Amino acid sequence: MAILVTGGAGYIGSHTVVELQNEGYDVVVVDNLSNSSEKSLDRVEKITGKKVKFYKADILDREALEDIFANEKIDSCIHFAGLKSVGESVAKPWEYYNNNITGTLVLIDVMKNHGVKNIIFSSSATVYGDPAFIPITEECPKGQCTNPYGWTKSMLEQMFIDIQKADPEWNIVLLRYFNPIGAHKSGTIGENPNGIPNNLMPYVTQVAVGKRAELGVFGNDYDTHDGTGVRDYIHVVDLARGHVKALGKIEEKAGLKIYNLGTGNGYSVLDIVKNFEAATGVKVPYSIKPRRPGDIATCYSDASKAERELGWKAEYDIKDMCADSWRWQSMNPNGYED
Ligand code: NAD
Ligand code: UFG
Repeated sequence: MAILVTGGAGYIGSHTVVELQNEGYDVVVVDNLSNSSEKSLDRVEKITGKKVKFYKADILDREALEDIFANEKIDSCIHFAGLKSVGESVAKPWEYYNNNITGTLVLIDVMKNHGVKNIIFSSSATVYGDPAFIPITEECPKGQCTNPYGWTKSMLEQMFIDIQKADPEWNIVLLRYFNPIGAHKSGTIGENPNGIPNNLMPYVTQVAVGKRAELGVFGNDYDTHDGTGVRDYIHVVDLARGHVKALGKIEEKAGLKIYNLGTGNGYSVLDIVKNFEAATGVKVPYSIKPRRPGDIATCYSDASKAERELGWKAEYDIKDMCADSWRWQSMNPNGYED
């Protein structure tokens, strides 16, 4: 039996495929490569020494999914496929709702047709909106999202909850990621943003490698220890291992489960700059810019539920995250492009 990984050529997906193969799982990947390169999967194969079965297909393409489920013995699905750029989602809401929500509804329907009712879904800390309390436990009420991307996650969570309530044969794990950064230790797979990065760490590494002149720090007047925004950065390999642990809940037939995947530590933008410089010896010039619309001051998790129930805990610290992000960027200045 195999695990179907949608979006498996992407940043978190490719790292998860490595961890799944290392744990002995058979993996089938479906990805339309809209935000990734098939080369990531070649690199995964080099890391694990195992073949990755890959279908280049869109999850909106029902026939293609039907064929995959007919040809492969799929037991469970880990569902990463989705569009994820906050700013782009404001400009292209229809595309985001269609890709993320319709795509997931098609996937769920095809799974059901083939009697597969096990799924792990990539949700996000964004569903907490401006969180009601910090550190954020899973009991923290969901909040108002500030963009269509966030709403797709919030709505999809609700759809999964309703589907599992109506048919308790479904086993569903909703994983709320905090801020994934870092890369595999080999430096051969990592985050490969298109164009100007929106997120902090890829921007930092592109400044460090000389592709961008300086980092803009979005606001230094927040109510935080140094005035810059605080987040819970988590190493992507720890995050990937969280998915392998979550499969345990699927195997236990645990019904509907929700977990935060974070470290429980908050670091500010300037903490990241300092830790990056200390870990790599490379200077990151920056200047203070106005606040970015929609940003919140502070967001970090209480990740103790995942530790208690999944036996999972993040192992890598901020220095590892910085050093590994840098190794990937410096070994691959143009990402997967030659
Ligand atoms: P990514 O863009 O690297 O990976 C997503 C993959 O899905 C890409 O390879 C893309 O080509 C594929 N894809 C998109 N739409 C598809 C479709 N219709 N059919 C088939 N494939 C499709 O992003 P990532 O950072 O690896 O994120 C993975 C998941 O985790 C996403 O759902 C994202 O929203 C979620 N998430 C990411 C973060 C983050 O900061 N990276 C935080 C919280 C949640
Ligand atoms: N920041 C800068 N300069 C930059 C980029 C970011 O100062 O060039 C700051 C932001 O203002 C924020 C912090 O760095 O304070 C982190 O910003 P990111 O864009 O890296 O991450 P966010 O916390 O804003 O959002 C990310 C994902 C969302 C996800 C959310 C919670 O982009 O998709 O984490 O998981 F929903």
